[in-house]
Amino acid sequence: DREAKLQLVHRHIRAFPDFPRKGILFRDICPILKDPAALTAVTDLFEEHVRQNHPQVDLIVGLDARGFLFGPLLAQRLSIGFVLVRKKGKLPGPTLSVLYDLEYGKAEAEIQDDSVAPGQKILLIDDLLATGGTLYAACELMKKQQAEILGCMVIIELKELNGIEKLKPHNLFSLIQY
Ligand code: PRP
Ligand code: ADE
Repeated sequence: DREAKLQLVHRHIRAFPDFPRKGILFRDICPILKDPAALTAVTDLFEEHVRQNHPQVDLIVGLDARGFLFGPLLAQRLSIGFVLVRKKGKLPGPTLSVLYDLEYGKAEAEIQDDSVAPGQKILLIDDLLATGGTLYAACELMKKQQAEILGCMVIIELKELNGIEKLKPHNLFSLIQY
């Protein structure tokens, strides 16, 4: 059931103090990828959320790099497409970009300008919400594309950084909160 799946996922997240900088407690999702049962549980939990709350979704939009690990599996389950938001300089052809702040630095997010059509209904996915800078930037890119943002989804939400506030008015779904 749902609770057993959440516990399985929870047991596959490790914490590393002072990475990549002093004072950051890094939440590592690599063990999830290493265990097919845990990866299936993550996909099941996301799929259930989407089928119950956003059955009209047209596309899953995943964030570089760890959103790429979970987004395509979910998109396949839903028989819909997957689109990449990448860090600057990785995508060929005409692109749109937005600068943003991270819990531990700065970056620039980019998307191909033909990746989403105006009015398409999208859900964003990443592994983790910290300050919300990354997902906020991706939402800005989606607005530039005139996509309809149904919501954001992450495995882990770091509550004390209050990223959920930064994402408003968009809703956030998280599997695990710290
Ligand atoms: C991490 C994480 C999220 C983002 C969350 O990615 O995977 O994408 O930070 O932080 P925020 O809510 O403060 O924006 P990172 O930029 O470290 O890159 P990576 O996925 O390439 O490791
Ligand atoms: N991205 C931003 N903050 C993070 C953290 N504390 N752990 C893992 N990824 C992160």
